Amino acid sequence: MNDVLEEYGFEIVRRQDFSDVTYLLEIRHPLMAKAARAGQFVIVMLHEEGERIPLTLADFDRARGTVTLVVQAVGKTTREMQQTCRAGARLHALVGPLGTPTHIGTVKKVACVGGGLGVAPIFPQLRAFKEKGAYVIGILGFRNRALIFWEEKFRAFCDEVILCTDDGSAGMKGFVSDGIRSALAAHPDIDEVVAIGPPIMMKACAEVTRPSGIKTTVSLNPIMVDGTGMCGGCRVKLGGAVKFACVDGPDFDGHLVDFDDLMRRLKRYSEEEKRALEHWSENCRMTSLGGRA
Ligand SMILES: Cc1cc2nc3c(=O)[nH]c(=O)nc-3n(C[C@H](O)[C@H](O)[C@H](O)COP(=O)(O)OP(=O)(O)OC[C@H]3O[C@@H](n4cnc5c(N)ncnc54)[C@H](O)[C@@H]3O)c2cc1C
Ligand code: FES
Repeated sequence: MNDVLEEYGFEIVRRQDFSDVTYLLEIRHPLMAKAARAGQFVIVMLHEEGERIPLTLADFDRARGTVTLVVQAVGKTTREMQQTCRAGARLHALVGPLGTPTHIGTVKKVACVGGGLGVAPIFPQLRAFKEKGAYVIGILGFRNRALIFWEEKFRAFCDEVILCTDDGSAGMKGFVSDGIRSALAAHPDIDEVVAIGPPIMMKACAEVTRPSGIKTTVSLNPIMVDGTGMCGGCRVKLGGAVKFACVDGPDFDGHLVDFDDLMRRLKRYSEEEKRALEHWSENCRMTSLGGRA
């Protein structure tokens, strides 16, 4: 596999670790950097036999010819990437940009909300709103101070930042939904809220804005396979209609999304995912024992 990583593919030019589980990869791909728009994602294969996993474009730099991914190590592939993706290594495949870009429109005041890992994918949208002249309120939420990343990057593009931590170790104590309440109290004229994070968080954000009917956009992360509308794996329910997140989204109207169905579907393969991780961890253990012998 190392030979594959060294011979061809897409070069990782920078890696940064934000915590024990979250890491950033900046990858050279000038064409994709040129084509990328806020809200789009890519499908990555670590090596020839690797699983295809969707990851959101957390940044793109047309001058440097690079795209940036921020990854949370949650299972077999994202942990394997955490182990092998160093600067100078190569990804076997990087397909995209996929998905419908976020509709930035001409809103005057927008709140961009990122919860945990969701802070990374909301960044290109927040920057695009700022570039279109909107007043941008960034609402960032983390479990605690140690997990905070990109606060300064956000401050550079936001008119205001509301930092929330679950335990109150930095910023205001509370969830991002509390941050939205606080922003709405100070700015009743917010035109749109965009929220990205775990489904339960996006559901809570949509409930905060539902009574006032403020447009609320969320980015959905159902299980995807091909990412091009062919397999039907990424089916989501919206107000009685069925949509495919990879081509119709991933952005959708948060007030219409059936989040309970999304959460149920995300758990569908948990037994298989657990077995794949155990199998991979056992192989890693055997390889490292073999290496020492
Ligand atoms: C449009 C989109 C954008 C995403 N952006 C990011 C991102 O920027 N950073 C990031 O860390 N993660 C992102 N994800 C989630 C990421 O794809 C999964 O965490 C990853 O596929 C897990 O693979 P695994 O083998 O490590 O873990 P597994 O053990 O296979 O799965 C862990 C959990 O991840 C989810 N998952 C598994 N396979 C897939 C799949 N093929 N597609 C979607 N979800 C899956 C399931 O909920 C599962 O319970 C995104 C998902 C989607 C659909
Ligand atoms: S991932 Fe196959 S249809 Fe969307």
